[in-house]
Parts: sequence; C-alpha cells; structure tokens
Amino acid sequence: MSVPLFDAATPRAPLREGLRSAIDRVLESERFVLGPEVASFERELAAYCGASQAVGVANGTDAITITLRAMGAGPGDEVIVPSFTFYASVEAIVHTGATPVFCDIDADTYCITPETVRAALTPRTKAVIAVHLFGNVAPVGEIQALGVPVLEDAAQAMGSRSAAGRPGSLGVAATFSFYPSKNLACFGDGGAIVTNDDAIAEEARILRFHGSRDKIDYEQVGYNSRLDELQAAILRVQLPHLDQWSDGRMQAARNYEEAGLAELASLPKPVAGASPAWHLYVVSHPDVKRLEGALAAAQVGYKPYYRTPVHRQAPMLEWGAGVDLPATEHAARTHLAIPMSPGLTRAQADEVVAAARAAS
Ligand SMILES: Cc1ncc(COP(=O)(O)O)c(C=O)c1O
Repeated sequence: MSVPLFDAATPRAPLREGLRSAIDRVLESERFVLGPEVASFERELAAYCGASQAVGVANGTDAITITLRAMGAGPGDEVIVPSFTFYASVEAIVHTGATPVFCDIDADTYCITPETVRAALTPRTKAVIAVHLFGNVAPVGEIQALGVPVLEDAAQAMGSRSAAGRPGSLGVAATFSFYPSKNLACFGDGGAIVTNDDAIAEEARILRFHGSRDKIDYEQVGYNSRLDELQAAILRVQLPHLDQWSDGRMQAARNYEEAGLAELASLPKPVAGASPAWHLYVVSHPDVKRLEGALAAAQVGYKPYYRTPVHRQAPMLEWGAGVDLPATEHAARTHLAIPMSPGLTRAQADEVVAAARAAS
C-alpha cells in the first residue's frame, strides 16, 4: 500500500520502551482489574478533558449504555441519535430499553445540528446523543439550549477541541472508546465515561460493577464492564502524547488542502468553533465508486464506513422504517475515508491527491 488508510504504529514506535515497562509494572503488581492504574488513568483523563470525573469501562458501547442509564433513560423514553454513525451509538440505546429516534445531520460537517434535533424532539425525549463524528465536534451547547441533556459520543473525537472546551466537558457526559484504531488506543477493548456530574459518575461506577458498590449488596441489575489495569497502564503512557498526535492530524488535513484536494472532492468542514483532531478524514464525491477505483489503482487506502445508515440496518427497522433523512442518505452514498494519520506528510497528501485526480 503506497499510502495506508491509517498508521498508528509509526507514532507509537518511540513509546515502545515505556509501554513495555508499564506492562511489566502491572505484571509485577498482580492487580489486573480496577486497581491503581485505572484510578490514575481516570484522574488523568478527567483532567485532560477539563472535567471532574472519569469512569473506565470495558468499551465505548458499554460507556454509552451505562451513561444513558445513569442519566435515567429507560423504557418509555426516547433518545435522539443520528443515523449516520457507527451502529453502536444506536445499539447502546436499545440495550437501555429506551427508543431510538433518528435525526438528520449537516451534510458538510456530518454532525447533528439544533435544527435536526428540534425536528425529532417530543415530550418523551430523555436525551440526545451528539456523535462527534470523524473527530468533528457537534454543537453541544446549542443543542442543550433546546432544553434537552446531551450525551457526547466522543468515541472518534479524543484530542479534538471546540471553542467551548474539549469533548467530555461540553454536555452532561461524554463517552470514549479506546479500541485499537482510535486516536487514543489501548491493546484491546476499553472505554470511559467523562462528566462533571458527580451523581452520574457515581451511578456509572455502580453500574459497571454489577450494580454494586462492594459486590456484597446489589442496588441495580448492572454490567460486568470494567477497564483492565493493563489497558489503563498502556493508555497512561500514550495520553501525554495525544496532543502532539492531534496536531499531526490537523497538519495532515492542511496538507490535503494545500495539495489541492478541494478541487477534486468536498472536504469535511469543521463545525463552527471546532478544531477537529480528524480521526477519519472523510471526503464526499458525487461518483464515489470512480474515486474508489482511482485510489485502489494507485494503492491508496480508502474505506466507505457507513454506506447503509443505521436506521436502515435490519435490526433497527422497528424504529427506522419510513424515517426520511436526506442529508444522511446523501452522506451515506457519497462519503469515503481516505488516509489519515498523525504523521501523514505533504508528499503522501500529494500522492493521494494525484491518485484522486484520475477520478475527476
Ligand atoms: C461513534 C462511535 N460510537 C461508539 C463506538 C463504540 O466503541 P467500542 O467499539 O469501543 O465499543 C465507536 C467505536 O467504534 C464509534 O466509532
């Protein structure tokens, strides 16, 4: 592959020694689940996000389900969510017993807006899930001004910023995934909930541990959804480097702009006030099959992520059938992720743009 879709190994290479000694430290400690590494990572992550609390869980999907339950969502409630997102954003709602209500996105930012949310509001709306898709930062403040609490699905937005702060400090709570392809990644599954709301954090801590504070008395039917010490130790080594990697992602986006990509495809647009640490760099092209062919011929990595939006996936038809989301359908038809990594050079951007030119 001349330019890979993503490259996490190169930026991580200088940290190998630090990672090995963190793994050794856990091995020596004989503490493997919810120990001091997790507690330290939770403090460091909360501080990074500008929030008071972080709760480590097993993955980003559980993080959403647990947060929704901690926000009180359950049967009879509605939760507004975009359909142009990873399936898990919606699946997590169904697991709480609440009803997903799909809303549209802005075609340029791929994020939900106050207008698309307003169109889906009802008296039963309990919460909105604002997905910070591809690393963009949805307009959380404006959506909350509608009078409805926002859960930020920030699985793809670790390292991004907005004028109002970082994901994790914008809504009622935010959820993150540390799946290996993410901007901040562990070596397996991992996730976290970040919030300034002590009651939500406390409830999330109980829910991640079978609904118990002490594994003696049980207050809720909860989950076994804990972050491992090994994963927390691995994340702690990398967190101090995240901003540098995010700057690299922002520079990579500038490299594409300077290489002239905007003449060949529609580039992703930051939401007003947002500085996205692009997790995926997703362009839009009217003849996307042709663009795919041109990139494949030049051995440039690419991937369509959400060709079938969530509301049209078979298990979601109960809530999605007949829902009309024109910007979502347009994005689903025309989007394509092209290479994005913290170290993507101007020469690589030129190569991608030269390959894309063959499709114009
Ligand atoms: C937008 C979004 N939400 C939720 C998730 C779920 O995270 P995980 O895979 O850690 O469960 C992901 C991860 O892929 C995601 O991209």
